Amino acid sequence: MKIAIPKERRSGETRVAGSPDVVGKLVGMGLEVVVESGAGLRSNVTDQAFKDAGASIAKDLSATLKGAGMVLKILAPITSGAGEELSKYDKGTIVLSHMSALTNADDVTAYAKAGLTTFAMELMPRITRAQSMDILSSQSNLAGYRAVIDAAYEYGCAFPMMMTAAGTVAPSKVFIMGVGVAGLQAIATAKRLGAVITATDVRPATKEQVESLGGKFLVVDPEMEKDAQTDGGYAKEMPPEYFEKQKQVVAEHIKKQDVVITTALIPGRPAPKLVTKEMVASMKTGAIIIDLAVEAGGNCEGAEAEKVVDKNGVKIVGYTNTQGRVPGNASALFAKNLFNFITPHVDKESKTLSFDWEDETVSGTLVTRDGEIVNQRVKDAVGSAAPKKKAATKSKPKAKAPSKSSKPAKADAASGKGE
Ligand code: NAI
Repeated sequence: MKIAIPKERRSGETRVAGSPDVVGKLVGMGLEVVVESGAGLRSNVTDQAFKDAGASIAKDLSATLKGAGMVLKILAPITSGAGEELSKYDKGTIVLSHMSALTNADDVTAYAKAGLTTFAMELMPRITRAQSMDILSSQSNLAGYRAVIDAAYEYGCAFPMMMTAAGTVAPSKVFIMGVGVAGLQAIATAKRLGAVITATDVRPATKEQVESLGGKFLVVDPEMEKDAQTDGGYAKEMPPEYFEKQKQVVAEHIKKQDVVITTALIPGRPAPKLVTKEMVASMKTGAIIIDLAVEAGGNCEGAEAEKVVDKNGVKIVGYTNTQGRVPGNASALFAKNLFNFITPHVDKESKTLSFDWEDETVSGTLVTRDGEIVNQRVKDAVGSAAPKKKAATKSKPKAKAPSKSSKPAKADAASGKGE
């Protein structure tokens, strides 16, 4: 089977869904890999590096996709307008990528119409076995790291305490709001740089995690937080009374902070507004806010996507695709996530893919197949008019109709979908 790795064409995307490591492994399994020329350049992977790993290099998108059974992508194929890609895909091609499937009704419908079998990797169920396939985790971790580096770059003072002959430099105070994967890495990174860390989250389990990384936890309301977590490990949307209380606690605290990094998300919902414009106005001149949730509407009032906004001397940084600002690692980990997902389904004899459609990682992420949207969560989210009959089965021995998994998984915020 031929696996294609095209260049990403969505604006601002720096990553590539393959790495020499993963290409080498796929080729070692007897699969053929074709990489579009220049696909890895923004991640500092040359055509030669892919070639050395066993891939062949194709000159353009059409040549890359020609005869491909499966396509590995960071972001879903563009369906219309400038850089349109979908018309170059053959019917029946399997596509793995971040699909923004819960929010991208038009695109998902177009993939179904084009007869693509698409897997939305952002819908990977959060089960232990799937951790190595979880693109949201691998990318959020890097986003958390890069948020601190961006803050350190924008901030006019140093992070660590320094005792010098000329005087003492006080350590910077860094406040992290939302302690999921990105928040935890932000704490760890800021701590390594010597900052004094505080953090807050609605999920009570995070208190211990913050403390274990050397930070201090800012408690809002332990009673209301008891019920703040879903079975899938995500935050629930909190009631207005909680936000009122959180506002009071945060308003007092934020005035004294040099850097604030916000990462709070609720799957399938707009990001909660945690930093009000009054809070921004109360902060010190030169303070920095990094809003990692800007793509989902932002945690900070006044944050704008792709902009550094100056509010009376306080900078609000709203980069989307923060993980794409560490493209080398982000590409390598994303590629490994995809590899870990497909490996159990590679038939070593025939050197083809034979998906076990009942596997939770397959049924949870499968979005379109045989011309239909087959994922119930996606149907519900996009209000798809797709008929509610079971997806048609294929004739391969393992091919049974996908189960309609409703395992919780995150929508698509903070994923760098770059649309
Ligand atoms: P996320 O990106 O959905 O949200 C980030 C953080 O924001 C979360 O910690 C959430 O509790 C917090 N938050 C939401 N609303 C808030 C508010 N109003 N105020 C303050 N904080 C708020 O979360 P992420 O990073 O995806 O992780 C969620 C959990 O899932 C974590 O416990 C993580 O360890 C777990 N996880 C499990 C995996 C698995 O078992 N396969 C894989 C990855 C993560």
